[in-house]
Amino acid sequence: MSNLFKVKSVETIIKQNEEAGEANTLKRTLGPVNLVALGIGAIIGAGLFSITGLAAANNAGPAVTISFVIAAVGCAFAGLCYAEYASMIPVAGSAYTYTYATLGELLAWIIGWDLVLEYAVGAATVAISWSRYLGKFLQHYGVNLPPQVMMSPFDSVTSPEGVVVHGFINLPAVVIIIAMSFVLIKGTKESALTNALIVALKVSVVLVFIFLGWAYINPHNYDNYIPANTGKFGEFGWSGIIRAAAIIFFAYIGFDAVSTAAQEAKNPSRDMPIGILLSLGICTVLYILFAHVMTGLVPYTAFKGQDGIAPVAVAIAATPYVWLQQLVILAILAGYSSVIMVMLMGQSRVFFSMAKDGLLPKVFADVHPKFKTPYKSNLIVMAFVCLFAAFIPARVVGEMTSIGTLFAFVLVCIGVIVLRHTRPDIPRAFKTPLVPLVPILGIVTCVFMMVFLPGDTWIRLIVWMALGFVVYFAYSKRNSRLNK
Ligand code: ALA
Repeated sequence: MSNLFKVKSVETIIKQNEEAGEANTLKRTLGPVNLVALGIGAIIGAGLFSITGLAAANNAGPAVTISFVIAAVGCAFAGLCYAEYASMIPVAGSAYTYTYATLGELLAWIIGWDLVLEYAVGAATVAISWSRYLGKFLQHYGVNLPPQVMMSPFDSVTSPEGVVVHGFINLPAVVIIIAMSFVLIKGTKESALTNALIVALKVSVVLVFIFLGWAYINPHNYDNYIPANTGKFGEFGWSGIIRAAAIIFFAYIGFDAVSTAAQEAKNPSRDMPIGILLSLGICTVLYILFAHVMTGLVPYTAFKGQDGIAPVAVAIAATPYVWLQQLVILAILAGYSSVIMVMLMGQSRVFFSMAKDGLLPKVFADVHPKFKTPYKSNLIVMAFVCLFAAFIPARVVGEMTSIGTLFAFVLVCIGVIVLRHTRPDIPRAFKTPLVPLVPILGIVTCVFMMVFLPGDTWIRLIVWMALGFVVYFAYSKRNSRLNK
């Protein structure tokens, strides 16, 4: 029993990391500006350009702007906790590594297993939205890909003649996942320049949309700012706003990528919180303005159904800048690729660490002789993510990502409080302010949002975690390096 809560000491983690040579290869080159750019590059993606439309149409109407504020508050509390972990355990880690050092193996396993929802399922979500925007882009040139290969079997479209066509497989989503996986396997380290370019592109799209769209807002679209609840929990009204917050929470995921760069930061104690909080702050402001313009250009009901997945295209069609549409979509397509890559990389890093600790089969830690990347892990993750993106609808994978990540944030907040008691001696370059208040507020806000997610999403989370327990007791516990 005690083995379940055995921790891997922070000293061991740092030592193993040094042995693996990672500490020597990573140079401290990142300043506050780079860290903020890193954050924004990982944050802005399908959450904004896709899920906002779905949440406005199904849950919050124009009040989706309020949902963005609520979700940002939860992220800020969790972000402060991440910053403390990152400055204390400065390995290119993740919530899994942090938890192993603090709450023991079982909880580390739980978080590692749960992170699959954040990274792998999250990558699938972005890929589905990518596919949708690709379809819109090609449509402009008269190329209409058959709907059967553009959607999951659970999605359908109605043709102008009134014929309902069901999807079979989402092929473009599969293609982009395979492409990004191979880029990862080859190990082209995303250069600072590429990242800077993609960030500039994404931020420009958002700003152009806000500035040009502002003049064409029809104030009548806000008449029903908080649409009345339909009688169903989570469908409009205040319960809808909070459910929408939990859904668009997806849009903020990625700031934890900043924490994984702790080792490369020039001055982590000062710059980690700046990187995390400033990238979050900038995105919050951009998101609120963006959502305001989007729901002002067309009635929120215009984002119903499949159109909700490419809402930007729907909104731009209401302005005279239709020519801009293609450029914007192109930028969105390019911008998504970096988000997909960060998520796929996060996933294979977590599996890599778990395999090194013996909690997953060794195959996940096998490194390619030439490219020096965990290619087998990348390929297995690729297959898994492809299955999700090909056959599951956007709403389902998006909500699974949100609930999984919220759960991970809760565990991170708990970990910070626990570690202050169990290991007060470890130097912390950055300390979360007002412990335990800030972590507790983080826990409360995240649990609050989780509670508002639909019941089917909860069932999926529980089934996934139950499966995780089976794997843990059947395999991981027996093979754990720490237990041997
Ligand atoms: N925040 C990232 C996105 O919106 C995951 O795509």
